[in-house]
Amino acid sequence: MSDNETNSLPSWAAHDLGGVVVSADEIRRRVHELGQLITSDYAGRPPLLIGVLKGALNFMADLMRSIELPVEIDFMAVSSYGAATKTSGVVRIVKDLDVDLQGRDVLIVEDVIDSGLTLNYLRQYLGARSPASLEVCALLLKDGLQRVEQDIRYVGFTIGSEFVVGYGLDVGERFRNLDGVYEYTGGTGS
Ligand code: IMP
Ligand code: MG
Repeated sequence: MSDNETNSLPSWAAHDLGGVVVSADEIRRRVHELGQLITSDYAGRPPLLIGVLKGALNFMADLMRSIELPVEIDFMAVSSYGAATKTSGVVRIVKDLDVDLQGRDVLIVEDVIDSGLTLNYLRQYLGARSPASLEVCALLLKDGLQRVEQDIRYVGFTIGSEFVVGYGLDVGERFRNLDGVYEYTGGTGS
């Protein structure tokens, strides 16, 4: 498919979305690069990838296939936003891990870091379970908005402060199934 084809919005989505923020092709290329970096950084100590549901689903699926190591995966589900587009600052664990982290090289896979509150909470929560190492790989980092200082080892793209959807990111559970990331211009999700 050409860039044009992959970037054009389907009719069911076009009404609520503005421009493309990160195209499907850009995502594909960058995810491959991140996979190569992780492959060399973690040679000899395959990481346990922990995806943060639901937003990191698409990213996790592509990233893990770009890593040429025997990785393992698990998922957590946290809720910090509800259906609105502003953070509540309250993080609730909806689904916990199934595996023991003791001595594991853990890599948190996140969709987007906005205030950093969710990640800060997760880092403390997972860090308390004695992993050998704990790093973060985020597809998107919203520039300058972090309320909590973050040390993020791998970042896909730095973007502005606009609310975005697609490639796993939602508003009111919609738009996760788009291949690119788009600005959301519709009303508050419900
Ligand atoms: P933070 O705690 O403010 O950093 O928010 C992180 C979480 O909020 C992410 O994991 C997303 O689930 C959600 N979020 C933040 N910004 C966006 C956005 O632009 N679109 C969709 N979800 C977002
Ligand atoms: Mg999320």
